[in-house]
Amino acid sequence: MNTSTITLSSDPEWYRKAVFYEVMVRSFLDTNGDGYGDFRGMIDKLDYLQWLGIDAIWLPPFFQSPLRDGGYDVADYREVLPTYGSTADFDEFLQGAHDRGMRVVIDFVINHTSDQHVWFQEALKAGRGSKERARFHFYDANSDGTPPNNWISLFGGPSWTQVDDGQFYLHLFDSSQPDLNWDNPDVAEDFEKTLRFWLDLGADGFRIDVAHGLVKEDVLKDHPDPQGLSDALRLDMPMDPERRYALLPTVPYFDRQGVHEIYRKWRTIFDSYGSREVMAVAEAWVHPPVNATRYVRADELHQVFNFDLLDAAFEAEQLYGLMSAAIDLMKSVGALPTWALSNHDSPRVASRIGDLQSRALALFVLALPGSCYVFAGQELGLPDGVIPDEARQDPIYFRTKGVQKGRDGARVPLPWKGETAPFGFTSGKPWLPLQEGWKDLTVEKQESDPRSTLNLYRNALNLRAEHLVNNGEVEWIESPVHGGKSASLLAFKRGNVSVYMNLSDLPIEIEVNGKLLVVSSGIVDGRDGKVTIPPVSTIWLHH
Ligand code: NOJ
Ligand code: CA
Repeated sequence: MNTSTITLSSDPEWYRKAVFYEVMVRSFLDTNGDGYGDFRGMIDKLDYLQWLGIDAIWLPPFFQSPLRDGGYDVADYREVLPTYGSTADFDEFLQGAHDRGMRVVIDFVINHTSDQHVWFQEALKAGRGSKERARFHFYDANSDGTPPNNWISLFGGPSWTQVDDGQFYLHLFDSSQPDLNWDNPDVAEDFEKTLRFWLDLGADGFRIDVAHGLVKEDVLKDHPDPQGLSDALRLDMPMDPERRYALLPTVPYFDRQGVHEIYRKWRTIFDSYGSREVMAVAEAWVHPPVNATRYVRADELHQVFNFDLLDAAFEAEQLYGLMSAAIDLMKSVGALPTWALSNHDSPRVASRIGDLQSRALALFVLALPGSCYVFAGQELGLPDGVIPDEARQDPIYFRTKGVQKGRDGARVPLPWKGETAPFGFTSGKPWLPLQEGWKDLTVEKQESDPRSTLNLYRNALNLRAEHLVNNGEVEWIESPVHGGKSASLLAFKRGNVSVYMNLSDLPIEIEVNGKLLVVSSGIVDGRDGKVTIPPVSTIWLHH
């Protein structure tokens, strides 16, 4: 296999302003009719991604896996899951992306392996006290037979499972995802090899799964409120904010100081690729928010996800608070924020806040400084799929005995063309059902409609590259409507571009001069130094 030759423009800080496109291989395009997307499909659609105007692609795990947690249960970190293709297919995809000026970032799932990973299989056989078990967190039962502590899995149920000889192993997620023991030198050593393996192949970076979770403290100690703690960690769990904020810093397995030593070591590996401009982004849910800045210190990782907008209301005051805080926080360490409205773990933004609202918010966010992560399908305005219970796959659904429906709705494959489901995604039966009603959301339909969500994203990405990425810092504009902060308008200026989001159901007239670059929906009326912003819509003006 050829090592990919990079034909990308040289910009050591490319990631600071990049638009990343998150795409699960299995939901993108199936080329052999087995119902699962594959790398041949990814290769077929590279031109689409280039046409869209994204800078980089983030691939959630595509490695050998029993897919108990969508691939976040890795059985072999250096093998492509055959369902998706071969390593040669991945290589061809990577090369094709590079040839089109797009970088590729891959997922690094190092908090846990799959129970099918050779290490875990060896640990089961080798028995208590063995060096094989020392790579995981195996402990004897308490004298009354109960698990070593009372921690609860983030997917529901206990975080310990017992094996045949009576010992328990720790799993913060599904029982098929045993947590690794990062105090064991084998673990660090092996993952360094894996990092180099993909970097040598040409990968441009890594998304670090559960980046805050590797180091555990007090594994044998009970937590005083395990259920409260695990509820506090769930975005979809209503909880009094004060209680949540009091609980979060007490998590004995998240955001421990030890994780930073690991990232300092990795940074030396990334930097040793010198001219390659490798980046890494941390999935780190930490509290208080200032702790996030530690992950992006100059000798650690390059970015940390900001999840604030995934569950924010479409409401000016809240959005202003979250956005300005994220910008200021990252500025304090010389970094830029990241933005995401949807991802594979959350309800899709169009379903959560509405179609027009999600278009307006996306256009607003795409103008902010920092980089944006767009989840495949978001550019089509795709809502969540409606999944019959018998088709569900998410371990959250099973572990909570159906109390929580889980994340499958966001993961439904993309509709490409035609009038009936599965809309060109597959010639077989898709791994999750596409909705019959999506016929107006296909790429084919939207490509030819200048007012479609797809063309909005495409225009915005082009204009962003042209006018915004090298433009100035955010200057928030006091609302010209009511003076001060307005419930219905949110606005800022960056250099010679100003951005206005009308959150209300009525048109808003503002006094401003400028040339309209793009509007998220509706018709903009502008004359005599006045511009009318349509209801629930965002505009970019050039001055
Ligand atoms: C975060 C990933 O985004 C999620 O999909 C996964 O289930 C957990 N980490 C466990 O790996
Ligand atoms: Ca396939």
